[in-house]
Amino acid sequence: MPPQVSGTEGYAAEADSLFVRYESIPSDEAHAAVLHLLPRTPARVLDIGAGTGRDAAWFARLGHRVVAVEPTDALRLRAMQLHASPAIDWIDDSLPELAVLATRDESFDLVMLTAVFMHLDETERRRALPNIAARVARGGMLIMTLRHGPVPQGRRMFEIDPESIIVPARLLGLNLELHRRGSSLTAENRAAGVTWTTLAFSKPR
Ligand SMILES: C[S@@+](CC[C@H](N)C(=O)[O-])C[C@H]1O[C@@H](n2cnc3c(N)ncnc32)[C@H](O)[C@@H]1O
Repeated sequence: MPPQVSGTEGYAAEADSLFVRYESIPSDEAHAAVLHLLPRTPARVLDIGAGTGRDAAWFARLGHRVVAVEPTDALRLRAMQLHASPAIDWIDDSLPELAVLATRDESFDLVMLTAVFMHLDETERRRALPNIAARVARGGMLIMTLRHGPVPQGRRMFEIDPESIIVPARLLGLNLELHRRGSSLTAENRAAGVTWTTLAFSKPR
């Protein structure tokens, strides 16, 4: 068996329940803070750590073309069936390198990193950020959410100071457009004290 991708610990074992949980959250509620920043005309979207494909399917329904990157087979293979769409291209790839994606040398109007980056340690995040920034097209946007609070059992997760992303992102030519801290959408996570940071960056034309 190939070695497990760093950050994916716990996901394959919980795939069944995650399909129920993640698919029950409407994407427009999950991304309410950034709806005004999303492309209004058909665009190229990259969803890194796409999970069950909930957001990839949402973007496809909105008329966008989506590349969905997901390293956990138990999620990706089932998501491909659940959200079968000619507008979604699924790729088995992972942070920090995004090596498969790099060979395609594509750039995207919108890059989404939803509830993923806190699974990488500081060294991995430092390696990953230039590889993510390289995939954002000129005039494009990078949107990420970071979870804070208790770590679910069996997961690998780190507390992230948003400044540790904002400062290097600026050096990579990404301008901060939005920095928001909010509560969790689910009652269970709110009760557990989980909060979220949303960051949005633009890349100048
Ligand atoms: C909390 S889930 C979020 C899924 C989806 N983005 C959503 O919002 O529903 C985190 C996802 O990140 C993926 N992931 C974990 N480590 C990763 C890595 N090193 N590279 C890419 N994806 C990773 C997991 O497999 C999982 O699908």
